[in-house]
Amino acid sequence: MFEHIEAFPGDPILSLNEDFQQDPRTNKVNLSIGIYFDDNGRLPVMKSVAEAEAALLADMGPRSYLPMSGLVAYRQAVQALVFGENSPARVEGRIATLQTLGGSGALRVGADFLKRSFPNTELWLSDPSWENHRVVFERAGFTVNSYPYYDAATGGLKFDEMLAAIKQIPQGGIVLLHACCHNPTGVDLNKEQWLQVIDVVKQRKLLPFVDMAYQGFGTDLDDDAFVVRELARQGVSALVANSFSKNFSLYGERVGGLSVICQSADEASRVLGQLTGAVRANYSNPPTHGARVVARVLTSPELRADWQKELASMCDRIARMRQAIHDQLRAHVTGEKLSRYITQRGMFTYTGLTADQVDRLKNEHGVYLLRSGRMCVAGLNERNVGVVANAIGQVLKG
Ligand code: LMR
Repeated sequence: MFEHIEAFPGDPILSLNEDFQQDPRTNKVNLSIGIYFDDNGRLPVMKSVAEAEAALLADMGPRSYLPMSGLVAYRQAVQALVFGENSPARVEGRIATLQTLGGSGALRVGADFLKRSFPNTELWLSDPSWENHRVVFERAGFTVNSYPYYDAATGGLKFDEMLAAIKQIPQGGIVLLHACCHNPTGVDLNKEQWLQVIDVVKQRKLLPFVDMAYQGFGTDLDDDAFVVRELARQGVSALVANSFSKNFSLYGERVGGLSVICQSADEASRVLGQLTGAVRANYSNPPTHGARVVARVLTSPELRADWQKELASMCDRIARMRQAIHDQLRAHVTGEKLSRYITQRGMFTYTGLTADQVDRLKNEHGVYLLRSGRMCVAGLNERNVGVVANAIGQVLKG
């Protein structure tokens, strides 16, 4: 029956992470997957999260099915965090928000909804984009195209080319945008550039699908959501996927959200209904635990203040590590290209290392990056940064 089934070629991120777990070398360093590790190389349990969990455990109660759209308190908290507590679109009930299985689940449910609602529309991704974007949308039946984004020569953005390409997208086309901390390049648009993109979106009547998996890792929770809030403010219909994997360090709980900005409360309620139908067809309803934890932290003033402090200190540590790898690499590399380690934002830096060089880093030094050259700087710490810089230096020597 299954003779014709081909071997799975693996996933460029998750399979590599599994290879890392199997690697017996004790000096190995994981800079492949987008996970924040602390200065001791450990995955942190945030204090605010642990406190919320302890309180929930003391008051666990029965666990029936959640509604298909998820926990109500969680959905409201997600909406307030993503759009701002007093967002007019939110107050007017024009945003449909549902709980999803992480950011990937939000993308998939959104993709299913869009495919049913706009069967002939195509999608445009930045070049490059998170590897799984293409997979999710192609599996949902979309033709996936791309628009220029990263400038390998400068380590910055090809903004004019990006904008020119978006201007060519046919009316109704779906354009996937990264709200902040672009994955994989770490290169973001500034506010002025976002406003120009939104103008084009409006002129061309495009449908933005914004992926915000790293809210809080760029500038701060509010600034990182600039494009999302501006779309809502300007009344542009759009989808927004968000995730608490990174900013709550709750990777395995799969807590995310999908919000759709609509033109009226009535439209939002019909859209929510259709999204709910997509959830039922995929997995019926989401799990309880992660959503209860996140809702508790976000709605309790003390826990929320603690959480924001913890998140800010994670960002400070990443900034220190960016500076450290930059400084250490100076001993090995000359030229301006190093500045990208500092200027790129969020968890990732696009190093410019080739796939062959990345393979050598892994095979000869036990240092894991993605074959695209993406490095997760949040995996660096005081103890491994010298080892990593040295390994890169050796590989660059040829
Ligand atoms: C990443 O980009 O490494 C993370 O978002 C993890 C994943 O699911 O790919």
